[in-house]
Amino acid sequence: MSDQPLLVTCGLPYTNGPCHIGHLRTYVPADFYVRYMRRCGERVVFVCGSDNHGTPIVVSAEMEGISPREMSQRYHDHFDRTFKRMQVCFDHFGMTDDPTNHDRTRQIVSSLIGNGYVYSQVVKQSYCTRCRRFLPDRYVEGICPHCGTPARGDECDQGCGRHLEPGEIQEPTCKVCGTKAEFRDQEHYFFRLSDFRDFLLEYLPGLKGTLNARNYALGWVKDELHDWCITRTLEWGVKFPGRDDLVVYVWVDAPIGYISFTEEWAKITGNDWKEFWCGENRITHFIGGDIIYHHCIFWPALLKGAGYGLPHAVVASGMVKVDDHKFSKSRGYVVWTNEDYLDRGLSPDYLRYYLLSYTNHTKELNFSWTVFQERVNNELVNTLGNFIYRSLYFANKEFSGIPDDPVDALVLEEVKCALAAVDSAMREYEFKNAIDAMMGLAAFGNNYIQSNAPWKLVKTDRDQARKVIKNCLFLVRALALLFEPVIPEKSQKVWEALGYTDQAGSHLLRDATDPLLGGAIPVPAPLFEKLEDGLIAELDLLLQKRVKEAGAPPAPKMEEISIEDFCRMDIRIGKILKAEPIPKSKKLLRLIVDLGQEKRQIVSGIAQFYTPEDLVGQQVAVLANLAPATIFGVESRGMILAAGDTASLLVPLTVVEPGTKIR
Ligand code: 2FM
Ligand code: ZN
Repeated sequence: MSDQPLLVTCGLPYTNGPCHIGHLRTYVPADFYVRYMRRCGERVVFVCGSDNHGTPIVVSAEMEGISPREMSQRYHDHFDRTFKRMQVCFDHFGMTDDPTNHDRTRQIVSSLIGNGYVYSQVVKQSYCTRCRRFLPDRYVEGICPHCGTPARGDECDQGCGRHLEPGEIQEPTCKVCGTKAEFRDQEHYFFRLSDFRDFLLEYLPGLKGTLNARNYALGWVKDELHDWCITRTLEWGVKFPGRDDLVVYVWVDAPIGYISFTEEWAKITGNDWKEFWCGENRITHFIGGDIIYHHCIFWPALLKGAGYGLPHAVVASGMVKVDDHKFSKSRGYVVWTNEDYLDRGLSPDYLRYYLLSYTNHTKELNFSWTVFQERVNNELVNTLGNFIYRSLYFANKEFSGIPDDPVDALVLEEVKCALAAVDSAMREYEFKNAIDAMMGLAAFGNNYIQSNAPWKLVKTDRDQARKVIKNCLFLVRALALLFEPVIPEKSQKVWEALGYTDQAGSHLLRDATDPLLGGAIPVPAPLFEKLEDGLIAELDLLLQKRVKEAGAPPAPKMEEISIEDFCRMDIRIGKILKAEPIPKSKKLLRLIVDLGQEKRQIVSGIAQFYTPEDLVGQQVAVLANLAPATIFGVESRGMILAAGDTASLLVPLTVVEPGTKIR
């Protein structure tokens, strides 16, 4: 164990959309790791926060007609709540738009300027002549200069995946108004990332964490490094020192949030943030595999250039798939943490278990409701839950609790082996292997209780049956302690079922090998409930429906019309005076409509949705200057306006004079 405290951070969620399982794949393992290290006696500080700046948030806020701060606050609160519900417990959850981060960012950027790592240059930038503004990042769309695929301003998201620097995108168009943008000169500031190549070549081989992070980063550094433009023409963000018209690029102030959140935590708790960020440290970043470049190349270079300590480890998770399809909100392959899961009363522990145990942390994880059900029911309910319940039930029934007998050396050895196997896996960030070792101990317990059958033994050799059950309870306690970082809620229940009144999470793991004292236990209840087929089928259907709806063709793009075009339509409010079926037609009604100056006969295809009685006296919107037509032998002069497949009639909110024009 090290004397140095461990600082664990998680990639910061953007505040422009709700939490989904793609997010959880980083946060749950980080929380597991933090809990585990604490159970080993380490001092760990766990900070995170929301990422509030950048163009996607400005664009989303603009679309909703609210300020970016309001939008950020809404989703910040949402993530804060959701993480707590998922038992992901940060010591502090800050906001990158809070003053601490503005100050720290300006301090760091000023140091970089002072140390000669920033230069200004006039560059060509996309500019929209209609919106009269420069178009940073997501405000512009066009063609990737590297692979020719349609791309966003800052990233070739559908093609080669490259980061695009301002001005690089070809055939730019404004995302807001769709106008073809032009390139205009503008002065921007660049960070000399290329100066850090030798430093990174030396630093990266010693970087701890998962191999994917280190190896990808080394591969990139061995190629060429390009300087990064670190300013954007935006109102929203941290002002670039000395330039009121520019803010720093979001990828500068976002990771600096890790420092600011440590500062905020330190202020609240009376600690010193410098202990973590200046000099030697054990900073461990948990991130998604898509932001390795930012964390292993850009971020260490920023820290180095500004004179801060460097990250000790980067742990990067693999991608998430849903039903074997690439995770995609727009295509419907998404599972929302609250709406689809927690709000339906499902246990956070089940999802935690699935995310942690499905595969190795750096590999692709597939989520499917049926596989989720299988794993929970077979592993958590049948293997772990059954063993625990049978042991507790039998101990309570036959011996009213935990017997005083000693524990077999073989059982103690089994617990020690499991602890060692879990530990070596955790030190290598092999979370699945750690859980496999825990489950291995549960499987051992199941075999042990099954082969010794204390329920039979008690009839012939009560002493021996008592010894067997003592061994089982010793294993149950070890499992409660070992599984606490994985499934904290359920483990606490197991802990209480053993008669304890304190928190399982306040114990060290090595307590699992201490003698287990005899004592009473309460009557146990089953702790792990099965996931029923009906519920899983319902959730699966919801997902299929979402995918189907997302795949529906987009609404046809109509040609734009002028106000004059609109004025050519004479739309008025009319009152239906008479309605009757048209013989031999199932769909049509003959209506007589009062349009103020005149009464009109109109044929309308709404008979399936309304009876004549529904309609008489109703005020409706009428297109009055539609050319007359003869339908089923009846002359129709006008059209009743209605919406959608069920012909919902457009009616005025308050009564107006028949004939009133709609404008
Ligand atoms: O990719 C993202 O979702 C970013 N919001 C992550 C930022 S992590 C850090 F650097 F701040
Ligand atoms: Zn590309």
